[in-house]
Amino acid sequence: MTNDTTGDADARLDTCVAAAEHGGALALDSFRSPLSVETKGGPMDSVTQVDRAVQEDVFDRIAEDYPDDPVVGEEADALKSVPEAGPAWVVDPIDGTNNYVAGNRNWVTSVACCVDGEPVAAANYAPATDDLYAAADTTTRNGEVATTSDRTDAASFLVNPIFGLSPVDRRGLTDVVDTVTSSFGDLRRLGSAQAALSGVAAGELEAAVSTVRLNDWDTVGGVHLVRSAGGAVTDVHGDRWTPGSEGLLASNDAAHHALVSAFDPRT
Ligand code: IPD
Ligand code: CA
Ligand code: CA
Repeated sequence: MTNDTTGDADARLDTCVAAAEHGGALALDSFRSPLSVETKGGPMDSVTQVDRAVQEDVFDRIAEDYPDDPVVGEEADALKSVPEAGPAWVVDPIDGTNNYVAGNRNWVTSVACCVDGEPVAAANYAPATDDLYAAADTTTRNGEVATTSDRTDAASFLVNPIFGLSPVDRRGLTDVVDTVTSSFGDLRRLGSAQAALSGVAAGELEAAVSTVRLNDWDTVGGVHLVRSAGGAVTDVHGDRWTPGSEGLLASNDAAHHALVSAFDPRT
């Protein structure tokens, strides 16, 4: 098919959706059945044979349409960060593996495409609830246009902190939980970064925040969904978020300044 670097976002979105739906359906086949679970860095850093099989399936689907494009992916020896130039795909086969393993429905197969480091298309498919969040220029949830929440009062915001498992991440999470519960409305922790960002895009949450650098496969697709739905995504200082940024503040944009002043370590 096409391999342009100028970015035909709609064609790339079709590939994102097809790959996320195909890979997600494969993961769903094994959901709530016995799994062999291994750990990577620690007891909460789980991976299953399904994560690996789904990543391969998604990579194969992308290669059918864009055989020469690089693909970033969480598992195996795939590329681990988005290149600054040219097109690149970003895949998390199962985002929310701990939920998947436990039989909790909050997990997502995420497929996004960047051109020159900027996301241009994304699909996050949550197979267990059959919810598809997708965006090129406009964000949709299950085919209907989705927009961020219109809440303006930060004190009523639902905020989802996104953190990993390292000691520095755990300390950051503790601080963010404290700030959310004292300065915003209430806390949500879905256990899937991409599910949380999808929720911000569709107005199910007002914000998702991190004060540490996150992996590209946990963020890029959801960031594009939020922006195309009218939301704002910056780093902790309020500057435009790009892959590799320090922290991530994604919101409905209505009181983004309140998030920046709460979470920027310089303020
Ligand atoms: C994890 C989830 C979790 C986030 C972690 C991620 P995984 O991804 O998105 O919500 O807090 O930082 O690693 O391992 O389930 O793909
Ligand atoms: Ca992930
Ligand atoms: Ca994963």
